[in-house]
Amino acid sequence: MRHPWNASWLLGSLFAASAAVLVTLAHAGPRSTGAEGWSERELAVLATLSLQRLPPAPVDPSNAVERRPAAVELGRRLFSDARFSANGKVSCASCHDPQRQFQDGLPVSRGVGTGARRAMPIVGAGHSPWLFWDGRKDSLWSQALGPLEDAVEHGGNRTRYAQLVAAHYRAPYEAVFGTMPPLDGLPPDAGPHGAVAEQAAWAAMSERQRAAVSRVFANIGKAIAAYEKSLQHEPTRLDRYVDAVVAGRTADAGVLQPDELRGLRLFIGKGQCVSCHNGPLFSDRQFHNTGVPPRDPARPDRGRADATAKVRADEFNCLGAFSDAAPAQCQELRFMVEDDPALLGAFKTPGLRGVAQRAPYMHAGQLATL
Ligand code: HEC
Ligand code: HEC
Repeated sequence: MRHPWNASWLLGSLFAASAAVLVTLAHAGPRSTGAEGWSERELAVLATLSLQRLPPAPVDPSNAVERRPAAVELGRRLFSDARFSANGKVSCASCHDPQRQFQDGLPVSRGVGTGARRAMPIVGAGHSPWLFWDGRKDSLWSQALGPLEDAVEHGGNRTRYAQLVAAHYRAPYEAVFGTMPPLDGLPPDAGPHGAVAEQAAWAAMSERQRAAVSRVFANIGKAIAAYEKSLQHEPTRLDRYVDAVVAGRTADAGVLQPDELRGLRLFIGKGQCVSCHNGPLFSDRQFHNTGVPPRDPARPDRGRADATAKVRADEFNCLGAFSDAAPAQCQELRFMVEDDPALLGAFKTPGLRGVAQRAPYMHAGQLATL
């Protein structure tokens, strides 16, 4: 499925930030669009940015159903079902609005409460081995389970979610995952991460009941992940331009404006932006501390440094009981870099497709404009 927004590319705006360089390049740079303005080396870099170069997202061995159309459809419905929240008002789509590049346009997100980071767009997320700004999840399905149990996002608990699936999605669930376990006699609200009463109710359940509920919960994530992975980027003006010049053709007049072309030249050249924002998604999927001021200086966000222990301890990681992968297939998790001081305050390089239409910027919306 392709989503509706028509992303355009306004690197010119990025460029405007450094006016001095702009003036220099305005004199030195090419005056018109077309292959002749680019060196061989620049053309080679430009080619790497084209959407045509994007391979299919890697297969996630921990999610056996991710390519089943019935799972995609179930996930699509769950994604916007607000019954899966403490107040009946919050769904994934509340913060990841399909009409707004699957994000919310806010500096930090609001669910049943207010969070500390900015919502991320979802298209293309399946290309990354690590999810969230700090990468504390190692798969899309495991990621989806985080907000569902997070006190300020959906704020619900897993026995309630399992019972909602049984009541409203039994047939489509069973078509993908097989017969649902018996859920009668369960407390209505119980889970390992909820309020004190929810945690007590969870502890009072039998081991078998907890495993059955967690299995249904994990499968909710697997269906949502299948849907997310089916979402694809649309080609932009930049792709049209790059595909033309790389093929040795002159791009249609006005595909990119002169200031945008100067921004592009800087982006792949002196600005060295492509050293991190590279490939067709404009992200190396790595973690870097770029010195963005923290949102709350009293409690600076430690980013990746706090995330590696979380993903290793996560019961829903690639090596856990709910994963469909063999341990040997969990290479990213097994060989994760953990003790590098550079991880302090580091965040995942965000992709830049469609970036001009989704201010504010950075992991907590610290910057209002490009
Ligand atoms: C209250 C708003 C909110 C809700 C509800 C919410 N999210 Fe998010 N989402 C966020 C925020 C904020 C982040 C970044 C948080 C962080 O990095 O700590 C995020 C990050 C993500 C990412 C990571 C993308 C990447 O490139 O790493 C995915 C995928 C995602 N959310 C999917 C979902 C799904 C699926 C649901 C529903 C089960 C959901 N979200 C519900 C706000 C929300
Ligand atoms: C060392 C790697 C690196 C380099 C070089 C780099 N970036 Fe980034 N960029 C990042 C990271 C990491 C973030 C997120 C930082 C954060 O939120 O704390 C980011 C964030 C951004 C954002 C915000 C996107 C969003 O969705 O919030 C934009 C726009 C951006 N960079 C553009 C640029 C431009 C233009 C250049 C070149 C002048 C550049 N970057 C150079 C790593 C890099």
